[in-house]
Amino acid sequence: MAHLSRRGAMKKLAAFTAAGAFCDLRSRGGSNGEARTAMTVTVRLNDTIGTIKPTIYSHFAEHIGGVIYDGIWVGPQSKVDNIDGIRRRLIEHVRRLGRVVVRWPGGCFADKYHWRDGIGPRDKRPRRFGRWKEVTEPNQFGTHEFMHFCRLCGVEPYFAANVGTGSAEEFQQWVEYCNAPAGTTSLAEERGKNGDEKPFAVRYWGVGNESWGCGGKFTPEDYCREYRKFTEWVPGYGVPLYLIAAGPDGNNTEWTQRFFKKWTDFARAPLRGWAPHYYCGTTGHALKFNDDQWYEMLAKANRMERLIVDQWAALGEFDREHKVKLVIDEWGCWHPPGTEINREHLFEQMGCLRDALAAALTLDIFNRHADKVDMANIAQLVNNLHSLFLADGDRFVATPTFYIYEMYKPHHGAKAVKIDVQAPEATFRAGGQEYKLFRVAGSASVREKALTLTLVHTHVREPAEISVRLCDGKADRVQQTVLTHDKLNAHNTFEEPNVVTPKTIEGKANGETIRCVLPPASVVRLDVWLG
Ligand code: AHR
Repeated sequence: MAHLSRRGAMKKLAAFTAAGAFCDLRSRGGSNGEARTAMTVTVRLNDTIGTIKPTIYSHFAEHIGGVIYDGIWVGPQSKVDNIDGIRRRLIEHVRRLGRVVVRWPGGCFADKYHWRDGIGPRDKRPRRFGRWKEVTEPNQFGTHEFMHFCRLCGVEPYFAANVGTGSAEEFQQWVEYCNAPAGTTSLAEERGKNGDEKPFAVRYWGVGNESWGCGGKFTPEDYCREYRKFTEWVPGYGVPLYLIAAGPDGNNTEWTQRFFKKWTDFARAPLRGWAPHYYCGTTGHALKFNDDQWYEMLAKANRMERLIVDQWAALGEFDREHKVKLVIDEWGCWHPPGTEINREHLFEQMGCLRDALAAALTLDIFNRHADKVDMANIAQLVNNLHSLFLADGDRFVATPTFYIYEMYKPHHGAKAVKIDVQAPEATFRAGGQEYKLFRVAGSASVREKALTLTLVHTHVREPAEISVRLCDGKADRVQQTVLTHDKLNAHNTFEEPNVVTPKTIEGKANGETIRCVLPPASVVRLDVWLG
């Protein structure tokens, strides 16, 4: 838990950044013994991967624990500052994340949710039991409230439909209720009476969730049959629907192959997105971990890359033109209980610097596979698992992971370009064996004359001196934004909300080469003005 030698390294780094040149940070040998090696990141400005869809930076909000009730919805009469019942500070912060997507109402909850329970006057809505664990769902937050939340935050909705206990007809009617033009059908009229005459124009629809598990315990073949039934006749009412099928638990390629074999046996049902889920955990405790557990957690997060490559290859066997893209609509770090701020908030955990690095390295993976990944939703937005925010009554705080999402915003909509990293690996031990993890990884994107390079540096103790070489371009000016802390488990609390926040300094550019120092355990963004 103690990382005393990091403090000295951090002080020296500050000296460097003030002087604007490499400081003499001689390695005393890493904690895990790597030799000092020149580290280089080569950015191939003309080697484009694809456009980074802002939807890669999306979110997930489920009726579970404290996500909706307390996290998002406090009710119009609440003493907590709100806009029409929705927590104001959350709205203000989500607005800062850009035009991304929020998936709702689940998760496992989706396959038990009947959308009609959540419309009409709030005092008349049914209360239901046991939708996610044995708790009462008051249905105060339904379709209209969620849409209002999306409009206030400037995000797009993604609805997950109930396959497990619902019907194809119920799904089709929900689409009609949301999308049919005003006055054209009885459901459109009902929507108008409930306060929203104008259609919601919902594009993203997930057909079930984790169909191998809480979503119905289907075989891939049976789920494919259901999927076909649900999507066989579903008009968009002028909205181009983006239909998403529930993918496997982690990187299970057999599940993918069996679903798609059936999908190609049948006439291919409309399908745009394939949604595997991947949670990395559970390593030790959210805040109490040693150096090896730091690396182990990050190595688990890094498995996302293998998942993307393998799932993409499996899709390609059946969909040679790759019309179906990956939608990783649940991912994140999942720690054992023990750091909840409110015992009622199921799966709430305190997110620290380690979670921020896990988020950053995962976002870099998505950027590097911008041609394959259409959307990704970290789980979950507030008060649950790898959250960006924690809220309890009138208290609210942004976690270090929120700041990663802000730092990575310049990547939204930019062209991902290839990078090559030359750096030694970090080594760690887990379960009596030695493993390796990258020491430096990242991603780069270009928009007109602006290059954004984000780098994750995993080493717990040593800084990394990096030469960034630009192929086919020159740097006029550089700024460096850094998120780090001298404690690996540093986190933001209600009392001390700014413990882990990014800092920006002017960098040093020399035409084709940029020199920078990555502090130990850090995420760094370089903003480069290209000449
Ligand atoms: O995010 C929490 C739960 O994890 C979701 O409800 C489910 O889809 C997943 O297993």
